[in-house]
Amino acid sequence: MRAAIAAAEVNPRLSIAVVSKVYPMRSHTVSAEGGAAGVVKPDDSLDEHAYDTISGGDWMCDQDAVEAFVREAPLELLQLEHWGCPWSREPDGHIAVRAFGGMQKRRTWFAADKTGFHMLHTLFQTTLKYEPITRYDEWFVTKLLVDDGRVQGVVAVELMSGKVQAITAKAVILCTGGCGRVFPFTTNANIKNGDGMALALRAGAPLKDMEFVQYHPTGLPFTGILITEATRAEGGYLINKDGYRYLQDYSLGKPESKPVLRSMELGPRDRLSQAFVHEDRKGRTVPTPYGPIVHLDLRHLGEQIINTKLPFVRELCLKYQNIDPVRELIPVRPVVHYMMGGVSTDIHGATPLAGLYAAGEVACVSINGANRLGSNSLPECLVFGARAGKAAAEHAAQQALPNGRVLAQARDEQRRLDTQFLRRLGGTERVAAVRDEMQRTVESSAGIYREASQLTKATNSLRELQGRFENVRLDDRSHTFNTELQSALELGFMLDVAEAIVQSALQRTESRGAHQRTDYPARDDRKFLAHSLLYRNPDGSSRVEYLPVKITRWPPGERVYGQVEEHGKEEAPPAVPIRRAS
Ligand code: FUM
Repeated sequence: MRAAIAAAEVNPRLSIAVVSKVYPMRSHTVSAEGGAAGVVKPDDSLDEHAYDTISGGDWMCDQDAVEAFVREAPLELLQLEHWGCPWSREPDGHIAVRAFGGMQKRRTWFAADKTGFHMLHTLFQTTLKYEPITRYDEWFVTKLLVDDGRVQGVVAVELMSGKVQAITAKAVILCTGGCGRVFPFTTNANIKNGDGMALALRAGAPLKDMEFVQYHPTGLPFTGILITEATRAEGGYLINKDGYRYLQDYSLGKPESKPVLRSMELGPRDRLSQAFVHEDRKGRTVPTPYGPIVHLDLRHLGEQIINTKLPFVRELCLKYQNIDPVRELIPVRPVVHYMMGGVSTDIHGATPLAGLYAAGEVACVSINGANRLGSNSLPECLVFGARAGKAAAEHAAQQALPNGRVLAQARDEQRRLDTQFLRRLGGTERVAAVRDEMQRTVESSAGIYREASQLTKATNSLRELQGRFENVRLDDRSHTFNTELQSALELGFMLDVAEAIVQSALQRTESRGAHQRTDYPARDDRKFLAHSLLYRNPDGSSRVEYLPVKITRWPPGERVYGQVEEHGKEEAPPAVPIRRAS
């Protein structure tokens, strides 16, 4: 929606379609809780935000993108304020900010713990003011239309009628989010199937850094529902089965009664999730029917703080876990949350395929490197959504109308859907069975720790699953809200994305951020200070190439956490002007 607004502002004569498989207010951003980072306080600086992001990303971030991001994030958050976003306030009326993991300053804006909900409402109501924006709610995109080497629109199924239609366009922006559902246990809604990633890959655009998958340290064990990092920013503790604050054993600092920035529970997500695995191996987690857990303790915060700063957390715990965090410990375990990788773009959101743009979690620009810092993704949607909208509008102004050949492609796509799914006779495989096996395969090979033999085995299993998918049978042949067909199409996308994750993880023989190879435990800057680019070959196989990371002012260094002597007083090492070929 931010991209659509930006495009409408660049050129009010454009016709802009927002095509979404769900009603926009059901987009997964609605469940983002903790907040959005942007420098706003006088003791903070853009360089510190950049340094935190780059070191948090284990030096895999493109630093030109990070510099643009930290500069524009506060402006975008302020723009949302002007459009009506009810940011939480200090008692004197200034914007309130909270700490977040891996950040050396408090810079995360929030709207209680329903930040995504309020951002989404604000953007939605703002889009209504723009005449050129038309919504196609509950239209499912199955294919990008490409001809003459440029993207010229999409093919989409109107879910209500089953009608398959070409929506032609001079430029297309993918804003479809991540692919958490490739894994069995995730914070992501059922709709997060990597649709946009697979669409781009099939059309010829590369996926960048797909090996970097973020586990959030605190998900509810049964549902995977996120318990926001804001709980730890407000002072929550993580304790093992003995009631011990175990993070002190993992180079994350010493326990203090008040939260210390970049320390203990406010360390980065990759380190906290890895610490959980070690704690489990030491037998210090609690076994449950839903896997081992540790506890998040908020009891000392008191009812008033929980009700005012974390009301949604209390509601989620009561409704989904039947516990009250005011009085009880919250069971938590690491849960797949976010893809650092995605469709490769430049800092304007442009992919290497002419006419195709991407922004948000579907894209990899890359500001998140090997490990995203919490609260950087909401402003990323705004900054790079706006940039992509502007760039796509400018591109569209120079293009001829889409040609007639793409309409023939849309007819072919309708025939494919009919023959592969709706009119198919026979077929013995079920969508759910193939999906379950895919999720288990990806989890067991590309989880928090990886190694070559598991990844190789997964490569073979996924190939086999692709074969089984070709033989899938649907019971529902109807055209009205055919959710079985939709699940099959989503599974097809997920199988492609799963392969991209496993292949990219297999090829990166080093450990960095969220990609930890037990057989290659060290970071290898000599070989791998480079983004992976996964392409699909014409024969359906894939290949990985590498592109150097862009370093502007922060040469690779060690990631150090838990060293802060005094609250909030740690300074970033000075940025240095350096030049590096890229
Ligand atoms: O914990 C959280 O509220 C998550 C935030 C994020 O992923 O940015």
